[in-house]
Amino acid sequence: MRHSGGVRARIEGQGSGGSETTVNAAAAISARGISKSFGDVRALRGVDLDVRQGTVLGLLGPNGAGKTTLVRILATLLAPDAGSASVAGLDVVADQNRLRERIGLAGQYAAVDENLTGLENLTMVGRLYGFRRAVAKRRGRELLEQFDLVEAASRPVKTYSGGMRRRLDLAAALVAKPPVLFLDEPTTGLDPRSRLDLWDVIEKLVSQGTTVLLTTQYLDEADRLADRIAVIDHGSVIAEGTPDELKDRVGGERLEVHLEDASQATAAAQALATMSDEQPLLSEALIRIGVKGRSGAIIEAVRRLDGAGVGVDDIALRRPTLDDVFLALTGHAAEDGDQA
Ligand SMILES: Nc1ncnc2c1ncn2[C@@H]1O[C@H](COP(=O)(O)OP(=O)(O)O)[C@@H](O)[C@H]1O
Ligand SMILES: [Mg+2]
Repeated sequence: MRHSGGVRARIEGQGSGGSETTVNAAAAISARGISKSFGDVRALRGVDLDVRQGTVLGLLGPNGAGKTTLVRILATLLAPDAGSASVAGLDVVADQNRLRERIGLAGQYAAVDENLTGLENLTMVGRLYGFRRAVAKRRGRELLEQFDLVEAASRPVKTYSGGMRRRLDLAAALVAKPPVLFLDEPTTGLDPRSRLDLWDVIEKLVSQGTTVLLTTQYLDEADRLADRIAVIDHGSVIAEGTPDELKDRVGGERLEVHLEDASQATAAAQALATMSDEQPLLSEALIRIGVKGRSGAIIEAVRRLDGAGVGVDDIALRRPTLDDVFLALTGHAAEDGDQA
């Protein structure tokens, strides 16, 4: 699969010790040919990435795709085997100490201290950045306000809900007002309400100029938050573009038909085949097929199925999901991804 659009220099022949092409200095985050293996596992295979300042890049991929590995490299927590990257104008390897003050990292597993209160946690982080106690506390209060945690400020974190912990973790990442923020699956495991709240917070940060690299397994999250999306699978970026561009590649709306009788699946697939350029996807009594135009698709499908004598339980159109993106781009469903 080709990369789509953009000013991306493809780096060929990344060897160990080979000279690397310079990163894009105008971007807030720029990576070229980043590779990383853990023993036999090639977690990243030459990743190129650019994130313009003040924008959100959604790094979309299934479990094991390499998202966290890439984030850890860009956040200076892990050294790449090959390739180079700069964040906020600093090299992730050569300038790692200076860079740490300019980035924030928040993730799936909140890294706050359970036994401290919200305010104590944030004050402690401020102290770690070298703020005087009063300054650290003031910044902590400011963030608690911003993240709607004022009422919980003096309660131990172990009494917080999952959503509150995640907000506090994000607040902790923002203590030093970093211009670049890494969010590694920030909403995985959250209930829908907390998810929406966190999305609002992230949008606000971006509107204030923060550059965000956000990893996610959810297309809807990337869709809502990301200016551009990079799809990563098996350690390689396999597609990159705006949400609209990616959706176009997936093929627009999906028609889902639940049959009364799974034994009629083949007959149903045949009846629907010419409605799409793609092969229908069969899964017992469920048929999924990409359709081009939304209008009239359901009526057309019902007419065809009726003509073929196929009984239908339910029929609906829905937008592409992550699975559809993966199926279209890789030929396998996201949850099939083996870890190699
Ligand atoms: N410290 C590690 N040791 C060994 N294998 C690892 C380590 N970290 C990640 N991996 C492997 O690298 C691959 C990519 O993992 P990861 O970056 O965590 O993916 P993601 O965040 O997209 O789920 C997986 O196959 C994972 O098992
Ligand atoms: Mg991960």
